[in-house]
Amino acid sequence: MHTLLLVDDDPDVLATLTRSFRKGYKTLSANGGEAGIAFLDEQPVDLIICDQRMPNISGDQVLSHALQVQPEAIRILLTGYADVEALLACVNDAHIYKYVTKPWDPAELNLTVVRALESLVLKRDLDMARDQLEAAYKDAVVMLCLAAEGKDQDTSSHLYRVQHYTEALALAMGVDSAEAAHMGLMSMLHDIGKLATPDAILKKPDKLTDEEWVIMREHPLAGVRILGNNPFYETAREISAGHHENYDGSGYPNGVSGAYIPLSARIVKLADVFDALTTRRPYKQPWPMEEALTHIKLHSDTMFDPAIVIELQKLFEDGTLERIKAAF
Ligand SMILES: [Fe+2]
Ligand SMILES: [Fe+2]
Repeated sequence: MHTLLLVDDDPDVLATLTRSFRKGYKTLSANGGEAGIAFLDEQPVDLIICDQRMPNISGDQVLSHALQVQPEAIRILLTGYADVEALLACVNDAHIYKYVTKPWDPAELNLTVVRALESLVLKRDLDMARDQLEAAYKDAVVMLCLAAEGKDQDTSSHLYRVQHYTEALALAMGVDSAEAAHMGLMSMLHDIGKLATPDAILKKPDKLTDEEWVIMREHPLAGVRILGNNPFYETAREISAGHHENYDGSGYPNGVSGAYIPLSARIVKLADVFDALTTRRPYKQPWPMEEALTHIKLHSDTMFDPAIVIELQKLFEDGTLERIKAAF
């Protein structure tokens, strides 16, 4: 059953409203703006019908508060007369669903409430479906990465650290939070192309021959092929293709340089190398972060985007890098 919050300073109006919604709804009656706000702070409601003209706290203030604390709840304003200014304030500040002028037609108000709640239910269903889809694709990315694990010396903890270094660097570079999180997730796929590299090369304990290097260097574009052409994986394809490019154009597979390498790939390259340096690998001990940063700074401009190296240094200084490393 849906909960309606009815707010009016006139007890007669409040009683009329409560009577007309008694059947089929749980109603909460608030005698004035203060009481309305107190209800909003205490319990979840689905819909609010609020009078505009009330002493101390006006209807638009109550509905603006509702927008802050319970943004999902539908907001309907009752106006005593054509108060254009209050209406404008309400539309702008409280994003109201509808305004109803007093005296109202009960049947019409009832229908408005029914329609509004239908749209609320629909929105909740859509939100749930979207959340499920989002969880499913995130799981699919991780599953694919875990399936590839063992193929390479990389472990899942490497991928999680790269994910979080990437997200932190993207945020530091001014990428918005949703895009940064997406970039982080997609970074986990940077070496997915190694699924196509023969084990004899990937796991060879000795140095690779020139011919073997040629095959090894095919993994960025093999990754692009694996990642298909769904627009959703565009960032993952950029990262796979570009994570061995160098800032000065001396990398592979395309030898592109500077801003021609997508930002996502420039970030992941740095995150990937930083993690490789600072963790144990079969062929090396972990380097202290300071030492890794000194090494990276020597290659700023040649291998790495210097602007991102500066942000990496800052993330080291504020403890973010240590926190991420300790978490995985
Ligand atoms: Fe790679
Ligand atoms: Fe890696």
